[in-house]
Amino acid sequence: MPNFFPRWTNWLPIKILIGLGCMGTIAVAVLFWVFTPEYSRAGYQPQQPIPFEHTIHAGQLGMDCRYCHTFVEDSAHSNVPNAQVCWNCHSTGKVLSDSPKLEPLRQAMDVNYEGYTGEPIQWVQIHQTPDYAYFNHSVHVNRGVSCVECHGKVNEMEVVFHAKGQSMSFCLECHREPEKALRPLDQVTNLDWKPEDLDRQAFYAYLTGLSKGHGAEAPDYSEEMAEDGPLTQKEIGTKLKEAWSVRPPEDCTTCHR
Ligand code: HEC
Ligand code: HEC
Ligand code: HEC
Ligand code: HEC
Ligand code: HEC
Repeated sequence: MPNFFPRWTNWLPIKILIGLGCMGTIAVAVLFWVFTPEYSRAGYQPQQPIPFEHTIHAGQLGMDCRYCHTFVEDSAHSNVPNAQVCWNCHSTGKVLSDSPKLEPLRQAMDVNYEGYTGEPIQWVQIHQTPDYAYFNHSVHVNRGVSCVECHGKVNEMEVVFHAKGQSMSFCLECHREPEKALRPLDQVTNLDWKPEDLDRQAFYAYLTGLSKGHGAEAPDYSEEMAEDGPLTQKEIGTKLKEAWSVRPPEDCTTCHR
């Protein structure tokens, strides 16, 4: 009997098996990648064109975050400052204007500088949500969620790094229990804020003001005001959640549009 099939076909079933095996492995790997909560950007700390220190500016000098991150309250996107903002203090003849570290600033701003290019400083972006997820700064900042919840203690960072993994489970954990994070609006950029520092009477006066602002009848807080002992995050968060009617979304389409 002549060999009906060419010789290589003897190997065909094995090849198919191996092929299927490989595809299976790849499929499993992809599933793992998609469903593991591990988050690869945490810890990311790129080299920046100027070794800008938040410890000096936001720490020692006590500058408010919004002096430089000007859009954070008003827009979905937060911004890094343009060179003009640095130039306010570091222009020729002012603070450390000859520092070699500020070379890229002089290139961007100083028309009399031989290396002048007018090119903006090329800061490397650290925090980044993937395109398929929607994030909005202002809705958080205007609901008493501090920068520190999502970025860590930037005021103590010599070089900013990705302190917290901003995975989906990270977002959802807070959306389920926002009372663990809410604080009065005037403390959102105070990264050292502690709940027990807040004065009880002042806090309930603030809450009364909030309800009045909505044109609503202010709840009677006299019982809470009469209590003594320091305020806790739980008490502050729960009351703010009520006063602002905070209901963070958990449905897929709010974050994946
Ligand atoms: C004097 C200006 C200035 C002030 C004040 C300032 N920042 Fe920044 N910030 C910068 C610059 C410039 C960068 C980009 C370079 C870098 O990452 O170090 C930056 C970067 C960042 C980043 C990383 C951005 C990214 O790419 O993901 C975060 C987060 C941040 N700042 C938070 C804060 C917080 C919170 C405060 C207030 C406590 C603050 N900053 C105050 C200038 C400032
Ligand atoms: C409100 C004024 C002010 C602004 C705005 C400001 N700085 Fe500064 N900066 C200072 C002061 C003050 C120091 C510290 C001087 C010292 O240590 O004696 C400093 C120090 C520095 C240093 C350290 C320089 C060295 O040689 O050690 C760098 C780098 C720097 N700033 C970069 C920036 C950049 C980049 C921006 C813009 C994003 C900026 N600064 C905005 C006031 C400012
Ligand atoms: C609820 C979480 C959360 C809070 C609160 C928050 N951020 Fe962010 N921030 C993020 C996420 C997520 C990104 C990445 C966004 C993106 O890819 O557009 C980001 C990005 C940034 C960037 C980088 C923007 C860029 O394009 O380079 C800066 C600067 C920043 N945040 C500053 C702040 C400051 C200042 C505050 C407080 C006033 C703050 N953030 C509060 C989650 C948060
Ligand atoms: C520490 C708490 C906290 C974290 C972390 C957090 N959120 Fe929120 N989120 C809130 C609160 C509070 C609101 C406001 C809800 C309200 O006003 O009812 C909100 C609202 C939102 C909204 C609704 C905005 C709108 O336009 O309706 C979106 C979308 C959202 N968050 C996305 C995210 C994403 C994406 C992340 C993770 C990168 C995240 N959030 C992390 C607390 C948080
Ligand atoms: C509060 C906002 C938010 C909600 C609600 C949300 N997601 Fe996400 N999701 C995110 C963010 C942010 C990422 C990106 C995380 C990252 O960078 O790794 C993400 C990533 C994903 C991914 C990619 C894999 C991963 O886990 O990183 C899938 C799949 C996904 N979401 C599906 C869903 C489904 C299904 C729902 C509804 C049950 C949902 N998401 C609800 C914010 C949200």
